[in-house]
Amino acid sequence: MTHSFETLAIHAGQEPEPVTGAVVPPIFATTTYQQEAVGAPRQGYEYSRTANPTRTALEQCLAALEGGQRGLAFASGLAAEDTLLRAVCNPGDHVLIPNDAYGGTYRLFARVAERWGLRWSAAPLHDLDAAAAALTPETKLVWIETPTNPLLRIADIAALVTLAHAAGALVVVDNTFASPYLQQPLRLGADVVVHSTTKYCGGHSDVIGGALVVGDAELGERLAYHQNAMGAVAGPFDAWLTLRGLKTLAVRMERHCDNAERVAEYLAAQPELSVVLYPGLPDHPGHAVAAKQMRRFGGMVSFRVAKGEEAAVAICNHASLFLLGESLGGVESLIEHPGRMTHASAAGSPLEVPSDLVRLSVGIEAAEDLIEDLAQPLRSARYLFS
Ligand SMILES: Cc1ncc(COP(=O)(O)O)c(C=O)c1O
Repeated sequence: MTHSFETLAIHAGQEPEPVTGAVVPPIFATTTYQQEAVGAPRQGYEYSRTANPTRTALEQCLAALEGGQRGLAFASGLAAEDTLLRAVCNPGDHVLIPNDAYGGTYRLFARVAERWGLRWSAAPLHDLDAAAAALTPETKLVWIETPTNPLLRIADIAALVTLAHAAGALVVVDNTFASPYLQQPLRLGADVVVHSTTKYCGGHSDVIGGALVVGDAELGERLAYHQNAMGAVAGPFDAWLTLRGLKTLAVRMERHCDNAERVAEYLAAQPELSVVLYPGLPDHPGHAVAAKQMRRFGGMVSFRVAKGEEAAVAICNHASLFLLGESLGGVESLIEHPGRMTHASAAGSPLEVPSDLVRLSVGIEAAEDLIEDLAQPLRSARYLFS
């Protein structure tokens, strides 16, 4: 289909069901399928690890939204990452990752994949010279996250694609923070897009999932082979929930961006904070690149608290509408302390995050209520830690 994003989100992969005309793809809660004859499964469906119609609908929709050839849905973002690594890398290969990648991605490389012979190193991929210097003849993948979790750094996808391809490496972009509505890495030359669909794609904090989307059909086949052979697939109910979330992705993202812009502007004027990290702020070091490759600047805002770690923790503990919790990308606003929560696994590593950092996932509530909710903990932090 050549329709616009909003139309694809509602229709791609989601033809009305042929028997009844149901406009919503059914949850095909079945493990197996009656076959026409030995060796003749109906429309290719034989066993639900290999393929399930509800998952197919989600996979086709994800592929359309990212402008890819093939989408694959997994049980979690990390399951998607693991499947990708084992499909395209061999022992001895090297992967270059950002020096502030999501903590769980770091853990997958450092504590799991490394034991199986995969080598990795971390570099500031928002700095093209540093990225170029970190490439080795063994580099098989350049793993980009942009914006990064939790420091919201911006990497120039098109420029890194040029560097990586010249060195014979594939480019993977974890597009979780932007979502396909704000950024489409395959159109910028990337080879693979990874999602934790748990976040903006699902959008309602009620389903864990992951996805891979690729532009090359042959690579898609290889990944599909591994998806089936390794088995970490999205179940039909999870696929259905994620697909329902995708239908409203465009309108939700617009509201997330509106609110995050208001919150970031408010925070930038608060003396308790030493820095506010939001790519939409004109003084953000990645602002120009973000403006070039993203439609808008997203719903995530981080900030550092001048009085240090205990003040940062107190702000997290005293917010109320901003619920204290891990994860992001849902309709409700969340606040967390990455150093002690989502990124605790990176402590002591080159990916350790600043201890005075607070991360916000700005939801779609009324912006003025969210700002009011932050004002009180910020005031308390000023007096309690002076
Ligand atoms: C940027 C990013 N990538 C990947 C993941 C892993 O996804 P999942 O939790 O769905 O396994 C997360 C989870 O927080 C994330 O934030």
